[in-house]
Amino acid sequence: MYGVIFHFLRNYVIDKHGGVDTWRALLAANGRKIDNYNPITEYPDSEVIALAKTASEKLKVPFAAVLEDFGAYTAKQLVTFYHMYVKQEWKTFDVIENAGTNIHKALNQYNKTRKPPHIDATRTADDQLLIHYYSQRKLCPVVKGIIRGLGEHYGESFIIKETECMHSGHPHCTISVQKIK
Ligand code: HEM
Repeated sequence: MYGVIFHFLRNYVIDKHGGVDTWRALLAANGRKIDNYNPITEYPDSEVIALAKTASEKLKVPFAAVLEDFGAYTAKQLVTFYHMYVKQEWKTFDVIENAGTNIHKALNQYNKTRKPPHIDATRTADDQLLIHYYSQRKLCPVVKGIIRGLGEHYGESFIIKETECMHSGHPHCTISVQKIK
């Protein structure tokens, strides 16, 4: 996973869970002495997962809930840090659709060995989006969090339901999103 994700996780822990001391404690608990993640360097997926797992243990919050909360917090950072990929007039559904068709691919175009998530989004009505998420990382809680966080950023609310999940043996996760405001 790109170092930029560690930066987002760092911001999340510092802002929402006790400041830089908590973040340093998480790093130390995972054997990392220096806080020096480079945004465009690739680090093992296991490293970011281990940090999130330690956070979940220390905060006594279920792992999936930590991932979802992290996704919600990170949505705004994604659209501001990567503003060059995001049109001013877009709302939540536009960002999700473009993440699936263009954005993740553009971020990985110079590195063919990387495996970005595959997000297949279809508008089944003006206020409904059906998402199929495929990734060997199986981070569907992050997907649900990002949707909620994008909604908060764009002033929209959604009912988000996961009807099929890779963690229950499905080949992908299916997430339906119903806009309510
Ligand atoms: C401006 C929009 C977005 C940008 C710039 C962006 C960027 C990124 C980046 C840089 C990563 C790390 C990839 C890696 O290291 O391989 C990532 C991962 C991820 N993104 Fe996005 N993303 C965007 C929108 C979305 C949306 C809308 C969703 C879902 C609704 C999403 C779901 C994910 C997930 C689940 C991962 C974790 C990796 C995985 O599951 O394989 N992203 N994204």
